Amino acid sequence: MKIGVFDSGYGGLTVLKEIVKILPQYDYVYLGDNARTPYGNRSFETVYKYTLEAVKYLFSVDCKLVILACNTASAKALRSIQQNDLPKIAPDKRVLGVIRPSVEVINKYSKSGLIGVLATSGTVASKSYVLEINKISPHYKVYQQACPMWVPLVENNEHDSDGADFFVKKCIDKLLSQDSEIDTVVLACTHYPLLLTKIKKYLPKHIKIISQGKIVAPSLKDYLFRHSEIENRLSKNGVCQFLTTDIPVLFDKKAKIFMGKTKINSAKQVFFD
Ligand code: DGL
Repeated sequence: MKIGVFDSGYGGLTVLKEIVKILPQYDYVYLGDNARTPYGNRSFETVYKYTLEAVKYLFSVDCKLVILACNTASAKALRSIQQNDLPKIAPDKRVLGVIRPSVEVINKYSKSGLIGVLATSGTVASKSYVLEINKISPHYKVYQQACPMWVPLVENNEHDSDGADFFVKKCIDKLLSQDSEIDTVVLACTHYPLLLTKIKKYLPKHIKIISQGKIVAPSLKDYLFRHSEIENRLSKNGVCQFLTTDIPVLFDKKAKIFMGKTKINSAKQVFFD
């Protein structure tokens, strides 16, 4: 059986890339809901419906474990799927998100206890990061900033352009204007690692940046180590398969940007029932 990695579009490939780097032996199925992206400004009900459809699809193609690489899906759908749907549809399978592992590392980084979260409007509205960070320590103060233009910049391959500077600076200024003592910033969206160079340009040097791929990958490794009943069932041929709900040719082209130099096997288009 395989590991499924789901995202609303291409962004989750930044997470898959890091997972494959440290866990190359497993077989992966990446599913991008490119036909319906972005999720960032959609309602809870819609994100939940779309995410559940994707999870069911990944189960149907032999995934034992599905990672919701998408923050918006993790924020708006993960809990309902874990608590209400999984027991009914696939009690022996697992769905994991990216929020918990991303916040678990915060205490290693923050001294001031003042945390910034940069995310989509949907993730910000869900307050999932605030809740999860406060579960770890109620003393942390969390400041959120929605960055609605950042995903479109990346999706349109404009993340290295001069125009991107304006929107990156604007959101970072807004975040820091909430509290200038923020010392740790979570990049709570799959797309933001592609803007890292510009984010670093506008964030003061002493601020630590938590970029998810590098956190989620070791957390998955640890999870599999602790859950041998799942790990034992995983096939180990080192194959990545790519599925998209939109045009495969476009996916192949864009996926290279998100995965870096890694060779991409041609994507296949899928439709949900
Ligand atoms: N993948 C989404 C996330 O991490 C960003 C793109 C979208 O809005 O769908 O929140």
